[in-house]
Amino acid sequence: MYALAEARANIALVKYWGKSDLARNLPAVPSLSLTVDALTTRTSVHFDPARNADAVWIDRKPADPRAQERVSRHLDRVLPGRMFAEVRSSNDFPTAAGLASSASAFAALTLAASAAAGAAHDGTKLSILARQASGSAARSIFGGLVLLGVGTPGQTDSSFATPIASERDWPDLRLVIGIGIEGPKEIGSTDGMTRSEASPYYASWTASAPAEIPRAVEAIERRDLAALGAVAERSALRMHACAMASDPGVVYLRGPTVEGLHVIQKLRTRGFHAWFTCDAGPHPKALTTPADAEYVARALAEVPGIRRTIIAAPGAGALLLDGQRMAS
Ligand code: DP6
Repeated sequence: MYALAEARANIALVKYWGKSDLARNLPAVPSLSLTVDALTTRTSVHFDPARNADAVWIDRKPADPRAQERVSRHLDRVLPGRMFAEVRSSNDFPTAAGLASSASAFAALTLAASAAAGAAHDGTKLSILARQASGSAARSIFGGLVLLGVGTPGQTDSSFATPIASERDWPDLRLVIGIGIEGPKEIGSTDGMTRSEASPYYASWTASAPAEIPRAVEAIERRDLAALGAVAERSALRMHACAMASDPGVVYLRGPTVEGLHVIQKLRTRGFHAWFTCDAGPHPKALTTPADAEYVARALAEVPGIRRTIIAAPGAGALLLDGQRMAS
């Protein structure tokens, strides 16, 4: 009744933003992401008949009540009618940086809990389970470039992730993450999405987003970084425009984020490969090549307010660490 798993974060190149069914956490638009080899979460789950409550530890500290409740609810989903469990989760990156993505956490939790429960789910089933905890977690079940479909409102099992290309298929991709203002997000993604429904641009966002998927898939098939980068930049800017135009506006971009966008676009005019993306937080990210990654990282690090950078390559999907135990 014990298992240990690890999963990595992913960065969406075509963004998931908006829900068609809040209760089932079905996305309103399809998305496509790159699972990265940096930002890993390791999680152990031990279902224990001797326990009379769940115990959840994150980075060796007891989880706050909200996080604990979210984990317990997810365990109920993975194993209905279950016994209580001890869950230990650790990130290999500082949680305080505001990079702690729910994607790696819920992908690792889904796999560890399923294995501890003795269930041998396939990737599709794991992805459906992970999605219900956090949409982006569905994508971290797989490595490389991964698509998350929208599914059908009312049908829990209708939306899941599918790998488009493995981490070995296009090894020459790099993602430079510029770490800006640290600290927890002011508006979480779930709230940001719900609030964005009040945006006059929400209808055009959901109407225009699906067409980016075939463009991205075609670019991936051709290994055409410029085409994929153009899709990524457009998707990120449209997502933020939609959120910002809501009432009240949802603004994740900070000064250094916008400056980072300009630096990345400027690098392009100078012949470097670099395309901007940004999620529901202040950290600018650049899609680039192994040859240009160091230069792009240095240019981003020169932006006042960008504290450090991480260069990430395509990473593997969630995996079980058989026979290993989590240090407590
Ligand atoms: C901007 O997956 O965190 O990173 O399903 O409500 O948990 P919930 O949202 P979450 O949203 C991710 C939003 C995004 C874009 C993306 O990853 O596609």
